[in-house]
Amino acid sequence: MKRALFMAAALLGTSLSLASPALAKTAYDGVWVFDDTPPTPGVTMMEVTSRGGRIEGKVTTKWYGPVEMINPRVENGELKFEARNLNDKEHLTRPWSVALEDGQAHLKGRIWETDVDSKGRRGKAAEAKARAFQFAALPPLGAPIPSPLAATPPMGWSSWNKFAEHIDDKTVRAMADAMVSSGLRDAGYLYVNIDDGWQGKRDANGVLQPNAKFPDMKALTDYVHSKGLKIGIYSSQGPRTCAGFEGSYGHVKTDARTFADWGFDYLKYDLCSGEWFYDDADTVKRSYYEMGAALQATGREFIFSLCEYGRFDVGSWGRDVGGQLWRTTGDITDDYPTMAKIGFDKNGKPEWAGPHGWNDPDMLEVGNGGMSPDEYRTHMTLWAMSAAPLMMGHDLRETDAATLAMLTNRRVIAVDQDAKGVQGKAVRKVGSMEVWAKPLANGQVALALFNRGDTAASLALTPADAALATVSQVENLWTGAKSSRLPSSYTVPPRGAVMLTLK
Ligand code: GLA
Repeated sequence: MKRALFMAAALLGTSLSLASPALAKTAYDGVWVFDDTPPTPGVTMMEVTSRGGRIEGKVTTKWYGPVEMINPRVENGELKFEARNLNDKEHLTRPWSVALEDGQAHLKGRIWETDVDSKGRRGKAAEAKARAFQFAALPPLGAPIPSPLAATPPMGWSSWNKFAEHIDDKTVRAMADAMVSSGLRDAGYLYVNIDDGWQGKRDANGVLQPNAKFPDMKALTDYVHSKGLKIGIYSSQGPRTCAGFEGSYGHVKTDARTFADWGFDYLKYDLCSGEWFYDDADTVKRSYYEMGAALQATGREFIFSLCEYGRFDVGSWGRDVGGQLWRTTGDITDDYPTMAKIGFDKNGKPEWAGPHGWNDPDMLEVGNGGMSPDEYRTHMTLWAMSAAPLMMGHDLRETDAATLAMLTNRRVIAVDQDAKGVQGKAVRKVGSMEVWAKPLANGQVALALFNRGDTAASLALTPADAALATVSQVENLWTGAKSSRLPSSYTVPPRGAVMLTLK
């Protein structure tokens, strides 16, 4: 009889526990393995168990590890549940479902920006073991990591805004060449940073290898160094980076060592799928500390760029984890509304910024073509007034004369790079106009006048805007014009800016 029951259960695709009073398990019980599901979020397995009518289960993914089933239940023959979502406060969970189709489990759901629609087959215990997610323990915080670097905001170029993951060795070398030949290096731009998309797979020892587009990382860093430049790389504390490449989860020390051995000088560390594991101030901070300490232990000097979109008051602890810059916002895009929203309103608390630690409102879009010259002037003026890192994000080979003049304006760069390291801020708002002030090391004050409206507007500036009693010299930083007093008013084009220093 027992045997007959088992046979029937096996035919139904179920298993039975005779010890339990509620004999029937669901048809979903057991291990289901997913062989060729899309890489994002990389579903590898689903496990379901039920006992006495109570169902438990999880879906294992490469990005997020095990995703627990919340409130799993069988409705109309389908297994339904909710799963935690991330990065979306309006949808803290999302509905998922599983249907049995021709002996396969058809799993549907959504997590972050990815739809899941995959079929799994029944698997064996050994397969489940092989696919089990390996959790990494997060070490506790240690003493603050001191940094002698970035006395002024880092300057350079990063691949992401223009090339996204379509970046390769040849293009990075070409950017280094262009940085020198255009004069950008001599204007202060130093770092050539590879963002997401360089990663391949780990070797048998867990050492991350570059993908085929980066045949020899050491040769590449040597090349960039030979140009008098420095070079940066990118990773995430999650299992996967934002673009879905291999992250440093579980391999933090090895990766820091690898980046040092290759000769990198800068690491951007992007939370990405790490958000799933580290989702409060304590764990996020510790996850950055883990890498900060690992970089320090290599003995090589690294600029450590924290990319966690401004969460958890990062500016109040960014320095402690070894960071010299920390993002204050989500990603910039090459349009005025996004740039203005970030630059005016999401550029971080000024009290956090200063020598060796900078609010980072994201990389520059100047030169990418999505904004007018006045809008780019506002972009550059805002970043300089904010003492923001100046990371160019366009194809340096295609820098036209006006863009080059904007990016290499020594007077504007000097305000950004001023040794006092004060982040400027708005001191007066009148209609569509904003007046910003930034005190400088030499006692002068940088003033900017922004017109956030869609029509030209005029405003008079006064010495009081710069907290000065009198003014003996006014230098217009974009035009180079000098005079001994403020004019009766400035007329600023729509979405444009005027930038001055006052003595
Ligand atoms: C995130 C970061 C970006 C960029 C991409 C790469 O979106 O905020 O700056 O690094 O990841 O995938």
